[in-house]
Amino acid sequence: MTVRVPGKINLQLSVGPLRKDGFHELATIYQAVDLCDDVRLTATPGVPLSITVTGADADQVPTSTDNLAARAVRSVAALVGVEPEVAIGITKVLPVAAGMAGGSADAAAALMAADVLWDARLGRVELSRLAAELGSDVPFLLHGGTAVGTGRGEVLTPALSRGSFNWVFAVAAGGLSTPAVYGELDRLRGSDSVANPEVSVAVLTALAAGDAAALGAALVNELMPAAFALRPQLRQLLDFGTEAGALGATVCGSGPTCAFLVSDEGAGLDLAVALTATGLCRTVRRAAGPVVGAALVEAVGVR
Ligand code: C5P
Repeated sequence: MTVRVPGKINLQLSVGPLRKDGFHELATIYQAVDLCDDVRLTATPGVPLSITVTGADADQVPTSTDNLAARAVRSVAALVGVEPEVAIGITKVLPVAAGMAGGSADAAAALMAADVLWDARLGRVELSRLAAELGSDVPFLLHGGTAVGTGRGEVLTPALSRGSFNWVFAVAAGGLSTPAVYGELDRLRGSDSVANPEVSVAVLTALAAGDAAALGAALVNELMPAAFALRPQLRQLLDFGTEAGALGATVCGSGPTCAFLVSDEGAGLDLAVALTATGLCRTVRRAAGPVVGAALVEAVGVR
């Protein structure tokens, strides 16, 4: 069973108050982009769950049974009432700890692959429930496309989006921990009262019109000041991309990847070359969105 799963960018990430459960209330607009990991499950009767990771950044992915993809497989196995005797093979394309939800994507793919492997037929609602238990972004990676996320990001409403948008991703060196970035935001906000976040009408209008220039101007990520505080070079990287002609620039999730919206593939190539030459990033990738969420690409021996 092989499931391919995209990464995501937050076109809007507005952060509300810290809740009692330790999460922040969010208003976010996700878009899935065509940088994809593959997650393969192979039944290994009598042999306990194992996990191997190949591809970009493979050495940075934990292969213990705490890995989110392993937890996803165990959650489906527990529901079905079988032992999780499978080998999980992950081929990484998504950068690790970079704000593009690579770990959450692999968990979404693992949920879908396990559902098919054990013929569980859990359906979208049940899979989304399991996904939300694994992480705030995991339901969106099952869903894909473009969607508004509320609650802690797990409550999804599909959003209208016309056409395709071209992105350049500059992956800064080293990862950033998501809890650390949220914690820094709380520290920066101090005792200020924080309003409940609202979904951006400007982003939704630009998406529905397929207007890349308007979308570029409307991008918003309220985690940026916290990411800049922890990684000052990010501000430099964003400024560079904007001055080099991007329609808009933002930090992906909690960072440190920076995303630049460009008018077409040619502009993307030019910007990618310029960003590479800065020496400020460990890798530069181009991608388009929106694309579908987790999808089965190979199934051998399925009933
Ligand atoms: O849900 P996920 O496991 O991706 O969240 C990782 C961490 O990010 C949480 O433990 C929390 O510190 C922070 N977070 C948050 N509010 C959210 C989502 C994540 O504070 N809505």
